[in-house]
Amino acid sequence: MAKTLLLLGIESSCDETGVALVALRGDALPELLAHALYSQIDMHQAYGGVVPELASRDHIRRVLPLTQQVLREAGRALPEIDVVAFTRGPGLAGALLVGAGVACALGAALKKPVLGVHHLEGHLLSPFLSADPPEFPFVALLVSGGHTQLMQVQGVGRYTMLGETIDDAAGEAFDKSAKLLGLPYPGGPALARLAEQGNAQAYTLPRPLLKSGNLDFSFAGLKTAVMVQARKIAALHGCTVENLPANVLADLAASTQAAIVEVLVKKSLTALAQTGMKRLVVAGGVGANRRLREQLDAECARRQVRVHYPELHLCTDNGAMIAMAAAMRIQAGQQSASPVYAFDVKPRWPLDLI
Ligand code: KG4
Ligand code: ZN
Repeated sequence: MAKTLLLLGIESSCDETGVALVALRGDALPELLAHALYSQIDMHQAYGGVVPELASRDHIRRVLPLTQQVLREAGRALPEIDVVAFTRGPGLAGALLVGAGVACALGAALKKPVLGVHHLEGHLLSPFLSADPPEFPFVALLVSGGHTQLMQVQGVGRYTMLGETIDDAAGEAFDKSAKLLGLPYPGGPALARLAEQGNAQAYTLPRPLLKSGNLDFSFAGLKTAVMVQARKIAALHGCTVENLPANVLADLAASTQAAIVEVLVKKSLTALAQTGMKRLVVAGGVGANRRLREQLDAECARRQVRVHYPELHLCTDNGAMIAMAAAMRIQAGQQSASPVYAFDVKPRWPLDLI
């Protein structure tokens, strides 16, 4: 019988420290045994965004207690770990170095190999942790705070870029528009919540590159359009943007969300049509957006396309996706863990170049 490998995964690329334990046995889908997360949102909120140096220092405080927590929850001990996986990039350099340093120190102390994981591959494979895991091949829509990409995925490590954003990411468009409307960081979920009370048809905002004929995205112009629209309405009301009546802010939020969602949905459908694939995987923080899920579900059902999402709590950054991606890479023979602890990190690292 195949030996069970126990993998520890550490995520520290941005403002969440995540640690998880995954068990890998033979050809079966790796199993999540325990995961723990510490979000730094409260700390960064005072600054309106992530402060990289504060993020790194907080990862240092959290990573070992979270590791002890997952071991306790899974009823395992440190020496039982077979592989220590960590996020190697992309992300904030200092924050990545904390995870890489701790992973390599643990690996060296336990005499166990380490494996650096691509953060976006973690997101991409996170739906395999859900109750309804996908099967290869599929089209993947990766929508996070830093990336917006459509990929053709043939298997683990076999990724072809179909299109990506030429400027801001979808999550960034949510976050920046939210900030303009005076909403707290992180703006995406706040804007989505406010949008629930608004009329998405109230204001006409641009759908960038919708008819570009390719699968690239551009969201930088959207926040400018939101700002121009908001200032125009504020001038009419004789107030500042932040003091606009609640119903106007809700209508602006709903119209902004509708513009982002429409572009993401239409480009995903074009990617499915162009590749002839009948399966779509949505991953990354923006994948938690309710409107995006509703519209993708409806459009894909009409086309007999299956859509898979990560569990809602695993859409944003977490350690489970890092341990899972490491396990799936090892299982697919794409990568073996290394007994060399001379680590580096890759703050910029295109997913199709791994
Ligand atoms: O994947 P993620 O946790 O971090 C990165 O790798 O970037 O994604 C975070 C992004 C942020 O931009 C956040 O505002 C956005 O995901 N986000 C959402 C929602 N939840 C998180 N955007 C829209 N609607 C949501 N419900
Ligand atoms: Zn992420």
